[in-house]
Amino acid sequence: MSTSLREDIDWVGVVDWNVRDFHGYRTDRGSTYNAYLVRDEKTALIDTVKAHFVGGLLANVSALTELDKLDYVVCNHAEPDHSGGLVEVMRACPQAELVCDEGCRDALTRYYDTSGWRFRTVADGGRLSLGRRTLQFVLTPMVHWPESMFTYVPEEKVLFSMDAFGQHLATAGRFDDEESLDVILDEAKSYYANILMPYGRPIARTLDRAAELPIEIIAPSHGVIWRSHIDSILSAYRDWVRLKVRPKVLVIYDTMWKSTEAMALAILEGAAGNGVHARGLYVRANTLTVIATEVLDAAAVAFGSATLNGTIMPQMAANLTYLRGLRAYGKAGLVFGSYGWGKSAFPELTGYLEAMKFQVLRDPLVSKFAPSAEVRAECKAAGRMLADEARRLAAE
Ligand code: FEO
Repeated sequence: MSTSLREDIDWVGVVDWNVRDFHGYRTDRGSTYNAYLVRDEKTALIDTVKAHFVGGLLANVSALTELDKLDYVVCNHAEPDHSGGLVEVMRACPQAELVCDEGCRDALTRYYDTSGWRFRTVADGGRLSLGRRTLQFVLTPMVHWPESMFTYVPEEKVLFSMDAFGQHLATAGRFDDEESLDVILDEAKSYYANILMPYGRPIARTLDRAAELPIEIIAPSHGVIWRSHIDSILSAYRDWVRLKVRPKVLVIYDTMWKSTEAMALAILEGAAGNGVHARGLYVRANTLTVIATEVLDAAAVAFGSATLNGTIMPQMAANLTYLRGLRAYGKAGLVFGSYGWGKSAFPELTGYLEAMKFQVLRDPLVSKFAPSAEVRAECKAAGRMLADEARRLAAE
């Protein structure tokens, strides 16, 4: 089944209702792998799909054009959720040239046997006429990989934006005005936090370049197509690329016998109110995906762990490793937790905060076994400190 974006420009991708784990990213609302067909004097397929969905893609394309008359297959991004179908597509479309940049060509040759493929490599600003319409290529390194690019059709003001502005969201409607905007933006935020957050600077440069293009439709490689709420997604991206924070305090923790949890609750009690949104996130009740999404716009974060076998509890360490890689920089924070006979978890926790360039507000808050009334009061005061700093950072 296809959907028309413009006359002779159609979505021909597939909906993956059932995916729940996308290389570790929890995708509770499924996803889509979007591909697009532009029919003109020449015909171009923009991107493909995950390998095991290629049958659906080819059925959608062949309903609109004869496969052996396809002239071009554009690969905007070599990651296999978009390139996995290329092997079958290039076999089914023997006249097609594979259009991509040099970096993408190199990546594709390392994933697939490309020996029978005819490549047409393009540079930044390169153009390819299809007849009445033109494909214009905008290289977007690190959005999401080094070889990535956008394809733009100036005559139609349509931007094929690959991963940028995408969402892991399976829907029956293809457009942003056919589904709940709150849900779409929620998934776009999760996508940015979990996939794109480390690349804020190159994405900011890409946004500047996109701002130079007249755009009426943004067609990403995942989720719904933007046509009615383009300003909303561009505005959200402008906030996310600069890691703009809200007056929000998170208390992320793991606990063994509820001592660290009691400290977490006292910190939350101190942080809540006066315009600050405070939220507790027990790492064994929340996924890495949800926690990273919450961290994106939080101003202050307390990380807590009981000491287990002389180190941090494992699920907490997994979260910290994940967040360190996502480079959730520029926040305030502190560490806390309980111990029995050794305090070695706490310098480890602090080390993660320093690696994430957090402003560490105080020495670790620690409790030998269950927190006393004095320790709980100290936790509550620390919560107030986090809230004060969150308000200050959000106002900057
Ligand atoms: Fe949807 Fe970076 O691949």
